[in-house]
Amino acid sequence: MDQKRSSFTGKIGFVLAAAGSAVGLGNIWRFPYLAAKYGGGIFLLVYIILAVTFGFALMAAEIAIGRKTGLSAIGAFKKLDRRFAFVGYLAALIPAIILPYYSVIGGWVMKYIAGFGTGQAHVMAGDKYFSEYLKIVGEPLVWFLLFIGLTSLIVMLGVEKGIEKVSKVMMPILVVLILGISIYTIVAMPGAVDGVLYYITPDFSKFSVMTVVAAMGQLFYSMSLAMGIMITFGSYMKKDISIEKSIHQIEIFDTGVAFLAGLMIIPAVFAFSGGNEEALGKGPTLMFVTLPKVFDTMPGGNIIGAVFFIMVFFAALTSSISLMETIVSILQDKLRMKRIPASLAVLGFSLVLGGITCLGFNVLKDVKPLGLDDLLTFFDFISNSILMPIAAFFTAVLVGFVLKPEYLMDELDLGGKFKAKRLFSVMIKYIAPVFIVAILVSSILDAFGIVKM
Ligand code: TRP
Repeated sequence: MDQKRSSFTGKIGFVLAAAGSAVGLGNIWRFPYLAAKYGGGIFLLVYIILAVTFGFALMAAEIAIGRKTGLSAIGAFKKLDRRFAFVGYLAALIPAIILPYYSVIGGWVMKYIAGFGTGQAHVMAGDKYFSEYLKIVGEPLVWFLLFIGLTSLIVMLGVEKGIEKVSKVMMPILVVLILGISIYTIVAMPGAVDGVLYYITPDFSKFSVMTVVAAMGQLFYSMSLAMGIMITFGSYMKKDISIEKSIHQIEIFDTGVAFLAGLMIIPAVFAFSGGNEEALGKGPTLMFVTLPKVFDTMPGGNIIGAVFFIMVFFAALTSSISLMETIVSILQDKLRMKRIPASLAVLGFSLVLGGITCLGFNVLKDVKPLGLDDLLTFFDFISNSILMPIAAFFTAVLVGFVLKPEYLMDELDLGGKFKAKRLFSVMIKYIAPVFIVAILVSSILDAFGIVKM
């Protein structure tokens, strides 16, 4: 690119930007439904352990690679070792798979803003409301179109900065709202406390390999790892900022928001279903089924619901913009495309894939690749449980064995001594690669129904 690489301003600039990309639907929509489905407390425990060891090491590696090379993923991998150039491309493919279905969910969020905004809380709280809604062919497509259209427009016009400013104001409000809704549920609803216990008490009998598979996929997704994003962020990071401290701040923030979102949703599931396992296993629709019931019981629930979904909308929009931006800048760099045609290409691709995803709930509902519930779950699985582990594996092998962890140490030491040297080396060299292969194999065996994990 002809433009010169700018830097984030100030000490907090990097952390805010990285956290802004990290916090999104992954925290609010994805984390709670996985935690509900995969055993509650045990999922939470596995997730946190993975985040502070594995997630920490991988994020440190990616940021250091970016800052050291000053390049984004494709260029960085090529520069470090030509044989690993394909990892850059692989990493670049992942946002392209995520963006379309992310926008489908963004569309659901918009629908809910409209619903609460027009005082429909009571209707939306109906048991079958959301599953019936998904069966409609036209409307979800229209909302998806609006969401991806808006994302594209912002990327084409290059007005991301404005949106980021808005979202910086929205984010704290969102956190306060999530906290308020959790407290309301726990205090006001009988049975909710059992949900809290389910969520925070690890029950080891619920542990299975799939708990770890799901937790690892979620870690990649939520922290925007294994898709080149953090490499790009690193390339913009100033040299006098400590990578280690920044990661701690990003992790605390990202995991904190996810934890609170779980605390908002899981107790509510218990309150409304009496701890019924089936309700816990709702999957991707969990938030959209549970929250309207909560809002319906609240005084002023329509307004609170609308405001809540507006905040979620902004969190989702900043993430979808950054997903699209990543793909567009790769097309600009690699294919020398101009911004508008590149954005239109991404838009066209997303329309097709996202359109198919919407139809997966009605016209194409019998298409169940790998036996997964629907096409949304399928695209989510391909990116999070297959491609991201592969990209992460090669990143770990490159850093651990080809370059050696020492290669990044001087970079990691800039801006403050890197204290977790041993943890970093051991994780990147031995634990991460072995662990990722084990997880990858088990998730594939499970998906093909060869072994039930
Ligand atoms: N981490 C984001 C979330 O939690 C989703 C996401 C994954 C993302 N990869 C990304 C966002 C890349 C921006 C850029 O919702």
